[in-house]
Amino acid sequence: MTYLNDRKKVTVQTIIRKKAKGEPIAVLTAYDYFIARLLDRAGIDVILVGDSASNVVHGHDSTLPISMDIMVAHTAAVARGTEKALIVADMPFLSFQPSIETAVLNAGRFLKEGNAHAVKIEGGVEMASTIRRVVECGIPVMGHIGLTPQSIHRFGGPKVQGRRDKSRAYLMESALALEEAGCFSIVLELIETSAASEITSALKTAATIGIGAGRNCDGQVLVINDILGMREEGFKPKFLRQYADLPPVISKAVEEFIRDVRTGAYPGDDESYSNSD
Ligand code: KIV
Repeated sequence: MTYLNDRKKVTVQTIIRKKAKGEPIAVLTAYDYFIARLLDRAGIDVILVGDSASNVVHGHDSTLPISMDIMVAHTAAVARGTEKALIVADMPFLSFQPSIETAVLNAGRFLKEGNAHAVKIEGGVEMASTIRRVVECGIPVMGHIGLTPQSIHRFGGPKVQGRRDKSRAYLMESALALEEAGCFSIVLELIETSAASEITSALKTAATIGIGAGRNCDGQVLVINDILGMREEGFKPKFLRQYADLPPVISKAVEEFIRDVRTGAYPGDDESYSNSD
C-alpha cells in the first residue's frame, strides 16, 4: 500500500490551485471510518460523503430517503478516519431546497457536528442564491449539475444530459451561475463529453469533477462501492471502471468461517485463552 500522508492537508484553495495548474483531482466517496482512512492514506484529494450512501449502504433504490441525521453520522465517521483529504458532505434531499435558512442551518451542521470542510448542493442556476448565502456564511460549496439524482423522477431515469442545444445552454448557464455564487468546484454528472469540456474551459476558478462526463473535466469522482464491485450484479454504467472485485473475497472468507465453526475447526488452542496467557 502507498502511504502519501506526509502530504499537505487538501483545502478548497488546493483544489482551485489544481484547476489553475491543470493537475487532475481524484475524488472518491466514503461513508465510514475505515474506508476513509484507506482512501486518505492512499492519497485521495477529496472524500465525498455522498448521499449515494442511501443506495449503497442503506439499500434504498434512490438517494431520496436518506436523512440529515444519518448523513451527519456518516460524515463524522469519515472525518475521524481522515487526516489530509478535503471532506465534502452531500446535502440530502429536502435539507436545502425548502428555504435559504434551512440550507444554511443544515450546511452548518455538517461542519459543526460532522467535521466536514465543505458541502455539496445539487441543482443548477435555480440554486445559485441559496449557494451564495451558504458560501457567505463561510461554508465552502461544491455544486452538482447534469443528472442530479435527487431529481431522478423529473429526469425519468439516468439520461445523459447536454445532448441538445437547450440542455447544453442550461448546463452552461448553471455552471457559470454556480461559479459566480462562490462554488469552488462543481460535479458534472452524466453529461455529454463535449458539453462537459466546454463547461470546464468556461469556468475560471471552479474545478469540474466529472462522473460520466468524459476525460476533459478537472477531476473525476466515482462511488467507492462501484470501483470495488460492491453493487448489485448487473450494475455497470458505461462510465464505470471497476478496479477490484471484493464480493467473492468476502463470500469466501465468510463461507470458510461458517465451515470452521460448524466443524469445530475454529477456535483452535492458539485462538483460546488459558491461565498461562
Ligand atoms: O452521492 C454521490 O455519491 C454523488 C457522486 C456520485 C457525485 O453525488
